[in-house]
Amino acid sequence: MIEMEKTLNLIEHSGDWGSFTTDVSGKLIDVSLDFCEHFSIDKRDWLGVSIHDVIQGSPGQKQKRVIFATLFGYSCLLRVTNKDHQKLYRVILRQEDLDHHEILSFMNAVDGEKMKKKIVKSNRYSFDEIVGESPVITHIKELAARIAASNSTVLLTGESGTGKELFAQAIHGLSTRKNHPFVAVNCAAIPEELFESEVFGYEGGAFSGAKKEGKPGKIELAQHGTLFLDEISELPYQAQGKFLRVLQEREVERLGGTGCKNVDIRIVAATNRDLKTLVQEGKFRQDLFYRLYVFDLKIPSLRQRKEDILPLAYYFIQYFNDRLGRDVKKIDATLQEWLLSQDWPGNVRELKALIERGMNIVDGNVLSMDALYISPSHYTNQLEKEHEPLHSLEEEVRKAEINAIQRALEEADGDRTKAAQKLNIHIASLYRKIAKYKLK
Ligand SMILES: Nc1ncnc2c1ncn2[C@@H]1O[C@H](COP(=O)(O)OP(=O)(O)OP(=O)(O)O)[C@@H](O)[C@H]1O
Ligand SMILES: [Mg+2]
Repeated sequence: MIEMEKTLNLIEHSGDWGSFTTDVSGKLIDVSLDFCEHFSIDKRDWLGVSIHDVIQGSPGQKQKRVIFATLFGYSCLLRVTNKDHQKLYRVILRQEDLDHHEILSFMNAVDGEKMKKKIVKSNRYSFDEIVGESPVITHIKELAARIAASNSTVLLTGESGTGKELFAQAIHGLSTRKNHPFVAVNCAAIPEELFESEVFGYEGGAFSGAKKEGKPGKIELAQHGTLFLDEISELPYQAQGKFLRVLQEREVERLGGTGCKNVDIRIVAATNRDLKTLVQEGKFRQDLFYRLYVFDLKIPSLRQRKEDILPLAYYFIQYFNDRLGRDVKKIDATLQEWLLSQDWPGNVRELKALIERGMNIVDGNVLSMDALYISPSHYTNQLEKEHEPLHSLEEEVRKAEINAIQRALEEADGDRTKAAQKLNIHIASLYRKIAKYKLK
């Protein structure tokens, strides 16, 4: 945003560099006097000349209202207005040494509401929002901030719920790409048969049911921004080869396409599995692994940084105070002790879910053990169950699993990603269980 403000400032303080008009065929029919002066040209030499011989810019910008182009050797920002099949090109900025990146991000910003929304979205998280002052997390935050500035591929590893996605967003938010899209692909959540068309895109008529006009893939949508490959271990094997090409050549070919497009993207990948083992088992391509393993950022589990538990708990209390209209100020001593004694296999996500549950039940402004007990409805279920005849352990486990999955899906309004998070299991594993038990 600062960059954009800077550019806007420059434009406000820029002088008028003049303008010229083209007719329907793109030939110059008028050139203003001040334009001729500023660019040291003679109007008579240029009337009737094609616009393509005047401006050098990318033809893809044609539909835009503000374009970036080179005019007589000068980098310029021009505003284009259509009037009765004629076009008026007004030079709003001429700056020889202006950063191209700045201009491009500004152009994208003024060129569509869509892009503006993405900018806001892409600035959602910063390192300030990653709570934790323990030496381990401080060290990781510092490392992440340092690599954020570079363009290198980052691999975030760590147990489920440690904050990998949060780090990915923060890295993007601190990079020069921050005003461009942050596009997340959850490799586990896209069914294998749709994966390639979703991620690489397709040309019109690439397969039956394809949109006539084709569709850009997530890779193209992340142009100039960051592509976040979440749960990278679940990347289908075939797509791994295609991805390798994207990483090596920085170009992408749509399904059914005949040519490649250059892509300028930064890759941040995340996994809670050990990719090295998957490579050994032949499930993950070694060459891709080495491409991703450029910078490995390991997010420590919550039990490795117990000092962060209470600050996080208080942070989530504040978070839910705001959302649930509560006014909880304190965690009582017994609960504090209990929180510190836990192992937190689901890490920060588990802690957050627990606080959320307590905040829904709590009465008053102290959070204590009472508020954290399982909800009354769950409790009666337990009582009812005690009167049912006991089955084999396998059968009991099966029933309990089905019960938990159904409840999670209900509570998440059918959103499987959220349901998996609630259950603190991998989304792929949720998909497998849904299929196994033939759940709806
Ligand atoms: N240090 C932190 N400060 C504040 N919130 C955090 C922190 N770490 C994690 N969270 C919160 O915990 C939840 C889980 O984090 P996130 O989704 O980033 O985990 P993850 O490592 O991607 O997990 P998974 O491997 O299961 O996908 C999110 O709601 C996130 O906002
Ligand atoms: Mg995640």
